Amino acid sequence: TTPHTIAIDGPAASGKSTLGKLLADHFGYIYFDTGVLYRALTYVALEQAVDLADAAALAKLAQTSNFEVLPPTIADGRQYTVLANGEDITWPLRAANVERNVSQVAAQPAVREALRDIQRHIGKSGNVVMAGRDIGAVIMPDAQLKIYLDASVEERAQRRAQELNARGRSISYREVLDDLNRRDAKDAANTFLADDAITITTDGRSPEEVFQAILSVIGVEA
Ligand code: C5P
Repeated sequence: TTPHTIAIDGPAASGKSTLGKLLADHFGYIYFDTGVLYRALTYVALEQAVDLADAAALAKLAQTSNFEVLPPTIADGRQYTVLANGEDITWPLRAANVERNVSQVAAQPAVREALRDIQRHIGKSGNVVMAGRDIGAVIMPDAQLKIYLDASVEERAQRRAQELNARGRSISYREVLDDLNRRDAKDAANTFLADDAITITTDGRSPEEVFQAILSVIGVEA
C-alpha cells in the first residue's frame, strides 16, 4: 500500500532533496525540507547579530520569527521560495556564512525543541515527504516509510561542488570536502538511522535509479 508519510534522513548532499521531490511529485504530496528551518534561523541570527552560542536567545528568535516556505515565486532555478519575516531568503540560505554556522545553531537542544512542533504539525497533516536528519527517529516516528540515504563524503563533495559551481559560486572540491566533513562531525549527534528505515547508498547511482529502487522496495509501480 502507498505510504502517506515518508521520512528521508541522511547527511548533507546525500540526495535527500532530489529523491524527496521525485517521491512527492509521484504521489502528489508536499515536500518539506527541514534543513530550511535551521538555515533560516541561522540567517536571521547572523543578520541580527545574535550570539550563536546563546541557546536561549536562539530559541526565542525561533519562536518570534515567521518562516514561510512557498511555491517558487521567481523562475530562477529555485525549488521553493523561503521567506523570513517577509524577506525572500531563498538563496542567502545557501550562502557560505549560513552553511558554516548552521550546525552550531542546530546542535542546541533548545533550538531543536523550538522548531519541533512546526515540523510535527506538517507531518501530521499527512501526504508529505519530509527530509532532514532526525525525521524518522524523532519528528515522525510513525512515518509509514523511512529512508536513510547515504553516500561517501567524496561523492557528496563532488555533487555539492558541481551544484555550487553551476550556480555561479566558485569553490574548489577540496573546500567543499572540508566543509562537509566539518558539518558531518557537528551534525552527527542529531543524525539518526531509524531501526525501521530502508538504507540506500547512492554512490554511483543516479537519482532516477534510487527513486526506482525505492518504488520497487515498497511495491509501487512507477
Ligand atoms: O539538509 P541541509 O544540509 O540543508 O541542513 C542544514 C543543516 O541543518 C544541517 O547541517 C544540520 O545542522 C541542520 N539540520 C538538522 N536537523 C534536520 C535538518 C537539518 O539539524 N532535520
